[in-house]
Amino acid sequence: MNQEYVHGYEPNEAVRLQDQADTLVELLHSDTHFSEGCTVLEAGCGVGAQTITLARNSSGAKITSVDISASSLEQAESHARAAGIDNVTFQQADIFSLPFQPDSFDHVFICFVLEHLPRPADALANLRAVLRPGGTITVIEGDHGSTYFHPENEAADAAIQCQVELQRMAGGNAHIGRQLYPLLSQSGFDSVRVSPRMVYADASKPDLVDGFTKKTFTAMIEGTRGSALEAGIIEPAAFDDGVQALYRTAEPDGTFCYTFFKAVGKK
Ligand SMILES: C[S@@+](CC[C@H](N)C(=O)[O-])C[C@H]1O[C@@H](n2cnc3c(N)ncnc32)[C@H](O)[C@@H]1O
Repeated sequence: MNQEYVHGYEPNEAVRLQDQADTLVELLHSDTHFSEGCTVLEAGCGVGAQTITLARNSSGAKITSVDISASSLEQAESHARAAGIDNVTFQQADIFSLPFQPDSFDHVFICFVLEHLPRPADALANLRAVLRPGGTITVIEGDHGSTYFHPENEAADAAIQCQVELQRMAGGNAHIGRQLYPLLSQSGFDSVRVSPRMVYADASKPDLVDGFTKKTFTAMIEGTRGSALEAGIIEPAAFDDGVQALYRTAEPDGTFCYTFFKAVGKK
């Protein structure tokens, strides 16, 4: 999984993940607060793009942030240190063989990870095992099938479809957001609640146009150019037209919509 992770581990992907997190803080995190003294496992923390917000919103919680990638963890740790965060411990770990005793944590938080895993239900079951009875899991995922924009453009649709296809080829699922309810329920979680969180950007929200339409979504699609061409799923000119059309939606008369899904379940 580590090598197949579709977005890779290049420095500009770390910047994109940080832009994504900064832009979406309010939309995705405003209702996540863990109480004083409780233990939280953040699974797949990457370069720590969500970790800082988690730690700030729950400054009394003891957070353990794990990732399979040692280099991402190093970056996460240095971001956290630079931000003055002192309630997070970083540890290298694979979600599929977690180095924790059963019932160790009060809460689990996992964001933008299940979409890359070949067996998301097994991952959820593993995370459930380290949760104490009564503990909660919070899952956030996107769903690329929720993308629509103006002006509509077939080349843009095709470029997005490359990402969906590459993720599928690597064993993941870029449409996983819509599946969170059945996945959590089938993995044994109770009281599952899913709330869709739509991002809508137009020229009246220049920060969102810049931070989301351009620097998060379009940058993500653009970042798959090499892999898409190598996989032979699109011609270079068609891909470039698609990316250009996505940037076109960030013009003053353009609009862009995308929906994230946030789920909470209980053990
Ligand atoms: C898209 S990044 C998301 C990072 C972070 N949660 C965020 O929202 O910015 C997915 C992360 O999952 C990690 N990952 C993938 N498979 C994993 C596994 N089996 N165990 C732990 N981490 C894993 C990758 O190394 C990568 O850092």
